[in-house]
Amino acid sequence: RRLVVLISGSGSNLQALIDAQNTPALPNTSIVLVLSNRKAAHGLVRATTASPPIPTAYLALQPYLRSNPGKTREDYDLELARIVLRAKPDVVVLAGWMHIVSEPFLEALRGTREVKDEGQGQDESSSNNDENPVPTNPIPVINLHPALPGQFDGANAIQRGYEAFQRGEVDKLGVMVHRVVAEVDRGEPLIVREVPIEKGESLEVYEERLHRVEWEIIVQATKRVLDEVKPLPLEDTENA
Ligand code: GRF
Repeated sequence: RRLVVLISGSGSNLQALIDAQNTPALPNTSIVLVLSNRKAAHGLVRATTASPPIPTAYLALQPYLRSNPGKTREDYDLELARIVLRAKPDVVVLAGWMHIVSEPFLEALRGTREVKDEGQGQDESSSNNDENPVPTNPIPVINLHPALPGQFDGANAIQRGYEAFQRGEVDKLGVMVHRVVAEVDRGEPLIVREVPIEKGESLEVYEERLHRVEWEIIVQATKRVLDEVKPLPLEDTENA
């Protein structure tokens, strides 16, 4: 089974998926592309130094807009989708992806929107489907978020959660992986794990403990969604 992982940062969740490939935690599964919107994302190094190395792609929004005057955020999102679709994933995992994925991106992965690039010549003879790939089945997108459902949308969720807990504004914290079905509404949670702060625990220590929970649930959630869309062949289930 084929995974595409989108990252923006250190890629520790990506690393958890890399380490789980083709083990009982994630049997018969390969990460076929790591896509980052930041060139400096350490996750890109994790991909290129994995064995076997994992193909990477990089597409940042501002440089794209600067070098494509007249193109919009929507065009950028469609270009992202084109790059993802060319890798023919069964599931797409957002692991520390610091953009809100947009409707055009999600529709392209559902197959309800073409990723045709207006700029390209309509040369019907060339089999341009590799340029404008269309998914045969809707490709699920899942996202890891370091907070509980409905809590702390956006960036720095861990620190904001920690501080809110210290101020007594929330009585529980945790992490979740959820489906991504539309730009604004968080899709149904797949796995939710409460991670209570231990007495007098510093933010740094709490964050490290919370990341370890993230690494567990991102692998579990990915396996669950993969098994929905691409169950293991029978002979694999014996030794999975
Ligand atoms: C994690 O805290 C994740 O929950 C959040 O951003 C961070 C990504 O970490 N979305 P990494 O890049 O996977 O190490």
